[in-house]
Amino acid sequence: MDENNNVSYSVYTPGNHSELNKDEVLDFLFTHLDEYGDQRADIAKCMDYALSEAEGKGGSVLVARENDNVVGALIMNNTGMSGYIPENILVYVAVHNSQRGKGVGKKLAQLAIDNTQGSIALHVEPQNPARHLYEKLGFTNKYLEYRLQR
Ligand SMILES: CC(C)(COP(=O)(O)OP(=O)(O)OC[C@H]1O[C@@H](n2cnc3c(N)ncnc32)[C@H](O)[C@@H]1OP(=O)(O)O)[C@@H](O)C(=O)NCCC(=O)NCCS
Repeated sequence: MDENNNVSYSVYTPGNHSELNKDEVLDFLFTHLDEYGDQRADIAKCMDYALSEAEGKGGSVLVARENDNVVGALIMNNTGMSGYIPENILVYVAVHNSQRGKGVGKKLAQLAIDNTQGSIALHVEPQNPARHLYEKLGFTNKYLEYRLQR
C-alpha cells in the first residue's frame, strides 16, 4: 500500500486480491466513469480478466481510498500478445467527481505503469479531458484507431 495526501493506494493482482471488495470497486467505476463507461457486467468482465491466473490473461486493479471510501480506481488487462501488440491495455480509470484535479488519477496511472511490464495501449475519445492525463504521463498517439463496428 502507498499513501499520499491521506489517500492510500492498493494494487491487486491475480495472486493478491483476497482483500479486494470487487462489488464496491465495480459500483464505483460504473458510477464515476461518467459517459466514458460501459455496462456494469462488462466492467466486471474486465476486472475478472485482470485478476485471472489463466495463461495469457491477468493484469491489475488499483484502488485509491480516502477514509476507507473509494475515491479512484483503474483496471489494466494483459493482452498476452507480446511482440506484435502492446503487452497491456489500460482499460478503465476514474476518480470520484468531487476529488478530481488533485493528482489521484495521475498517481493511480503512474502506480499502474510502475507495476506493469511492457508497453501499454489505451484508447481515449478525442474530446475526453483524460487525454491530458495520459499525455502528461508520456503516452503518445502515433496511430489512428479504426474499428469495424458490428
Ligand atoms: C480522467 C480522470 C481519471 C483524471 O483524474 P484526476 O484525478 O482528476 O487527474 P489528476 O488530478 O491526477 O490530473 C493529472 C494531470 O492531468 C491533467 N488533467 C486532468 N484532468 C484535466 C482536464 N479536465 N483538463 C486539462 N488537464 C487535465 C492535470 O492538469 C494533471 O496535470 P499535472 O500533473 O501537470 O498537474 C478523471 O477526470 C475522471 O475520472 N474522468 C471521468 C472518467 C474518464 O474519463 N476516464 C478515462 C476514460 S476510461
